[in-house]
Amino acid sequence: MPVISVPQDFNVEELYIDLRQVVGHSLYLKCEGFNFAGSIKMKAATEMVEAAERTGVLRPGSVLVESSSGNLGVALSMIAASKGYEFVCVTDFRCNLSTRRLMEALGSRVHVISDPGATGDLLRARIDHVTALCASDPRYVWLNQYANPHNWKAHYRRTAPAIARQFPRLDVLFVGTGTTGTLMGCARYFREWHRPVRVVAVDSAGSVTFGGPPGRRMIPGLGTGVRPALLDESYVDEVVHVEEADTIRACHRLARSGFLFGGSTGTVVSSAVDWLAQHDARELTAVAIAPDLGERYLDTVYQNTWLRDIYGEDVLRSDEVTAGGRRA
Ligand SMILES: Cc1ncc(COP(=O)(O)O)c(C=O)c1O
Repeated sequence: MPVISVPQDFNVEELYIDLRQVVGHSLYLKCEGFNFAGSIKMKAATEMVEAAERTGVLRPGSVLVESSSGNLGVALSMIAASKGYEFVCVTDFRCNLSTRRLMEALGSRVHVISDPGATGDLLRARIDHVTALCASDPRYVWLNQYANPHNWKAHYRRTAPAIARQFPRLDVLFVGTGTTGTLMGCARYFREWHRPVRVVAVDSAGSVTFGGPPGRRMIPGLGTGVRPALLDESYVDEVVHVEEADTIRACHRLARSGFLFGGSTGTVVSSAVDWLAQHDARELTAVAIAPDLGERYLDTVYQNTWLRDIYGEDVLRSDEVTAGGRRA
């Protein structure tokens, strides 16, 4: 019986869904949404806060500030509340309303950036706002998830070893990329492992993380408008970009099987299913990481009017959908 006194002390690390019945390929989905913050970001937040406390950067009276599309903000809100710090989350209009409310309920202040400014990029505008706050008051402490090595170390220490324990014959791992913390931690771990693992980075079409032109992205979690400092492509075997319409179709396919996941999980599953279909995958052990669950996306990914307005009438014509979400 787990008994805890702070929210960050509870995390389900060993839960997988066998998706063979749902997607028609052998694929294990590692579920990271079962902790109080509801996402994989609880691990990165804990690691970054504890490291900042160890080095004395974060101390009583400090005010945490971070740019987040939501999930890290929720995790930091919980940790800040449990440790007695103030927290300001800088996000943009794509952050789900329920996520914003959640942060506010936990006592955090949320600054929503709606103007991308001169550069035309919302992430850059968010970071400019954080930098201005830090310059205005020395109590502000920015952990900077895009460049903080403790972000990837959380996954090197916890996420990847947990997968290795359950799948000693792992062949291929699909990891979605935002800050690339999860990717870099897992890729570094498996590079040192006893057998080769193909690490496939999954990004949203329109993200600039791995190069390529910026484009519209409406689903929070994956993708960037600024290349993350944490990324070292020499650890990445393959990069796959997924159109948001395919993400949506994969999310709805999972939901029709009773599993409600967030947008980034749909993205990763869509890419994994396509990848497995293109390779001789019968003998392969494949794992994909599901960063969160679906309830925060009821007003977007699972809202028909929103879907129609953004992606057009046909996005969910299920008779044209194959296992991976791509049109037949
Ligand atoms: C829902 C969701 N999926 C995926 C990611 C990407 O994880 P990472 O930042 O480790 O690349 C995030 C990060 O914010 C997220 O919130």
